[in-house]
Amino acid sequence: MNTDPSIVTSTNVTSGSAVVIFCNISEYQPPIQGHAWKKGGKILTSDKEASDFTSYTVEEVNADSSGVYECVFETNPPVSSFVYVTVKPHVMAYKKSEHGNEGDTGVLVCKCNSYPPVNQWTWYKVNNGVSEPIVNGTDQFFIKSSGNKTELRIANLDMEKDPGDYLCNATNELGTSGAQVGLRVRSRLAALWPFLGIVAEVLILVTIIFIYEKRRKPDEVLDDDDGGSAPLKSNAPNHKDKNVRQRNAN
Ligand SMILES: *[C@@H]1O[C@H](CO)[C@@H](O)[C@H](O)[C@H]1NC(C)=O
Ligand SMILES: *[C@@H]1O[C@H](CO)[C@@H](O)[C@H](O)[C@H]1NC(C)=O
Ligand SMILES: *[C@@H]1O[C@H](CO)[C@@H](O)[C@H](O)[C@H]1NC(C)=O
Ligand SMILES: *[C@@H]1O[C@H](CO)[C@@H](O)[C@H](O)[C@H]1NC(C)=O
Repeated sequence: MNTDPSIVTSTNVTSGSAVVIFCNISEYQPPIQGHAWKKGGKILTSDKEASDFTSYTVEEVNADSSGVYECVFETNPPVSSFVYVTVKPHVMAYKKSEHGNEGDTGVLVCKCNSYPPVNQWTWYKVNNGVSEPIVNGTDQFFIKSSGNKTELRIANLDMEKDPGDYLCNATNELGTSGAQVGLRVRSRLAALWPFLGIVAEVLILVTIIFIYEKRRKPDEVLDDDDGGSAPLKSNAPNHKDKNVRQRNAN
């Protein structure tokens, strides 16, 4: 269905709450059997009235409600027109903070879920409070942008110069806004720490067990020498101690 010239619509909406959008049809002969409002393929409301006027209330103009609203007059064939609810880009960082290992490729992602679509994405690195634009294809930077999503890839992460805050800014016909992503870079060695920790733990455990076993050995030999006298041990510990001392003296 294309926009019908006989339909007059309300002007585009860019802000406000409880905003009424409407469509008026004129000079139309076939009977009107109802109306519907649609957005993104979904039916928002519908009725069976014959009036040449239909309206819909947008509760709050924001990223979620932004979009293309279609008013449909149920005639034969149906005719419709569009009302646009537009906002500045609503940008979100996929993750507010990312981290990568030294030498790896860091990936920062931002998305925009508002209407109209983003015309231009720009990435900035914040250095001492100053946002410096990142140029695609320079040094380690690669930017991939597609409509409502942008991805900044930073190759060969450096511990010194790459950590910090990055901005992803989106521009559409209503303006520019952005989101911030923090990047942390860990040294290769730091990535190994948890593994080295486990190795150290195992080594300490093995050593303790080894020492313990070593110390226990002579004791066990004595116990064996005592033959069937084991039950007596608890009753006469002094006796055993004497035994040990005697043997040690020998
Ligand atoms: C819509 O139609 C009504 C009734 O025909 C008319 O009074 C009103 O002025 C129209 N509004 C616009 C914006 O065309
Ligand atoms: C972004 O665009 C893709 C492809 O057009 C679409 O499937 C997806 O729903 C969009 N995401 C948002 C948040 O608008
Ligand atoms: C960045 O440059 C690469 C090629 O060097 C290109 O494929 C990509 O589309 C560019 N991205 C943007 C956002 O222009
Ligand atoms: C980028 O977006 C941020 C946050 O919305 C804003 O403060 C800043 O002014 C924007 N920068 C540019 C160059 O538009």
